[in-house]
Parts: sequence; structure tokens; C-alpha cells
Amino acid sequence: MASNSVKTTLKKEKIAIVGSGLIGRSWAMLFAGAGYNVVLYDIKDEQVTSALSDIKIQLEAVKKSGMLRGTLSVNEQFNLISGSNDLEKTITGAKHIQECVPENLDLKKSVFKNLDKYADESAVISSSTSCLAPSLFTEELPKREQCIVCHPVNPPYYVPLMEVIPSRWTQKNVVERTKELMTEIGQVPVLIKKELPGFALNRIQYAIIGECWRLVQDGVMSAEDVDKVMTAGLGPRYAFLGPFEVMHLNAEGMQNYIDRYASSMKSVSADFGPVPTFDGAALNEIVKDMNSQIPLDKLEERHQWRDARLLGLAKLKKDMDVEQK
Ligand code: NAI
Repeated sequence: MASNSVKTTLKKEKIAIVGSGLIGRSWAMLFAGAGYNVVLYDIKDEQVTSALSDIKIQLEAVKKSGMLRGTLSVNEQFNLISGSNDLEKTITGAKHIQECVPENLDLKKSVFKNLDKYADESAVISSSTSCLAPSLFTEELPKREQCIVCHPVNPPYYVPLMEVIPSRWTQKNVVERTKELMTEIGQVPVLIKKELPGFALNRIQYAIIGECWRLVQDGVMSAEDVDKVMTAGLGPRYAFLGPFEVMHLNAEGMQNYIDRYASSMKSVSADFGPVPTFDGAALNEIVKDMNSQIPLDKLEERHQWRDARLLGLAKLKKDMDVEQK
């Protein structure tokens, strides 16, 4: 994350954000924190208005928690962000365009057509899509070589990973510039070298969910206990180390780990069942268990609880200077 010890310089370049919902607002804060001029566009005027007032509140809240990015004040950062209801003006002259409209292929296609029409020849045109491969909505575009996916993780202010996914026709230079920009604004980019469904984070997440589901479905554990396996077991470790480093450290290096544990890993992995259908008795049991732990009318309260813990963890990681290499 952007260090508070290095003075943030005001950048001359413009960043365009298209779609000012949950993720568009987060992007605006990330770019303003690094000193960029941000123009936030939405098809609905009222969304832009509410985004701007929400951003002000969020900036004040992160300032209060000691996690405001960069060295600019809340007001300086907020003043870097402006709203717009004119797509052409928003896009023209932007060095980086970040699309944040709802996850729908036809909508992404039609929005990208317009971004392509108005974008400068040197602009990077990036989508926040959570799982659509960039070639699905850029193939027909004249500026398709400038298009890429840069997928954040919610909430991006505290969870810095950015999955960068080029298509076959994305220029190398666009990939490099996207990675550099993400690093510059304090995020942690990873490159997904081939387009594939779910990119990396969701593939890994779905593998975990699949096994958690089978453990409940097969009567091995309760949903509550499965969650504890993560929160009291794997989670704390993975907040600091990735699975490969865990392996490397849990033996005398990676080779030694494989020598010792490869046969167990193979036989346990071979025991995994098929992909769950996520319905029937297991679904009923998991829904019942979750609703009794966190009733639906307490979800908002629990979101705040979660965000406070993610903030605390981000702070701890910053203080311990253990950001990802
Ligand atoms: P959202 O529903 O909160 O916001 C979408 C915004 O786009 C709304 O303000 C809407 O008025 C606007 N919009 C709709 N059509 C538009 C158009 N033609 N032109 C301009 N604006 C338009 O959605 P959210 O959650 O911010 O998601 C946006 C994208 O980010 C999606 O692709 C989603 O998959 C991705 N994403 C979402 C994450 C999340 O946790 N919510 C995490 C990472 C990525």
C-alpha cells in the first residue's frame, strides 16, 4: 500500500472511471490517494452525486483510522475527484480508463464500444470484471490492443491484490503500464498469462468452497466448524504467506516438502469428490446454519465488523512492513 512516508506528488494525467457504484468509488479513492485527477462517470446522475458524497465520508473514515493513502489531505484527495455525465468528455484525454459497470457481457460489450470510440490512441482501457475474459468483449474493437482486465478484490482499499488479465491481442506495453500503474497506486498486481474462467483468485476460492461444501454434504463437519478451519487455521497463516511459501517453510525447503508429503497430497487430493451441485440437503443445512449464526437482518452489522477487521489486518501488515514482494 502507498506509504505515508513518501510525499505524494500531484499528477497531471487524468484517470476515467466509468460506473460509480461500489467498485468505481473504490478506484476513485485509490487513484486520488496517489495524486491523480479522477473523473467519475455514471449513466445515472444520482449515482455520481451519491458516489461523491460517499467518497468524502469514506476518505474521512480512513483518515480517522490512520489508513488514508499517500500524504495528501482528505480535502486535497477529494478535490482531485470530479463527477461527470458526459462519457466522451470523461474519456477524452484519460491515460487510464477503468470500467466498473455491472457484470453483464452484453453491457460490457456496449460500454467498451463507446470507450473504444472516445479513448486516446495511447490510453489503457481496462475492465474491473470479476470473471469475464477480456477477449469476450473486446475482439471486434479497433483499439482492442489497448484493452485489458484489471480485477480488484473488495474492498480494494484494504485488500491490495489486482489480477491483470490481457487477451491474446493486448499489447505487451499495455500490460506493463497497467502493472506499473497498479504498483504506483499501492496495489499488488499479478499477471494472469492466459485467459481462463475465474482468473486466479476465484479459481482458488471456488476450489476451497467446493471442498468445504463436500465436508458438510458428506456429514464430516458442521458449516460453523468448517469456517473455523479457515479462521483459526489456514486463514491466519495465509494472511502472511502464500501456499508455496508455506510448503517451503514447513520442511527444509520446497524439494524436501515434496519428498516428504507428495504422496499424502496425491492420495488426499484423489479422495476429493465431484464438483458439488450446491443444492438439496447440503444447501438447506448450510443456509440454516449460516442464518442462525448471522441472521439476515444482522448482515449489515456484520459487514462493518468484517471491514473493521480487514482494516486492522491491513494496518498490521503495513506496520510490520510485510507487504507482498
Ligand atoms: P454496482 O452495481 O455497485 O455499480 C455499477 C454502476 O455502473 C452503477 O452505478 C450503475 O448505475 C453504473 N452503470 C450501469 N450501466 C452503465 C453504463 N452503461 N455506463 C456507465 N455506468 C453504468 O457494481 P460493482 O459492484 O461496483 O461492480 C462493477 C464491476 O466490478 C463488475 O464487473 C463487478 O464484477 C466488478 N467487481 C465487483 C466487486 C465487488 O465486490 N462488488 C469486486 C471486484 C470486481
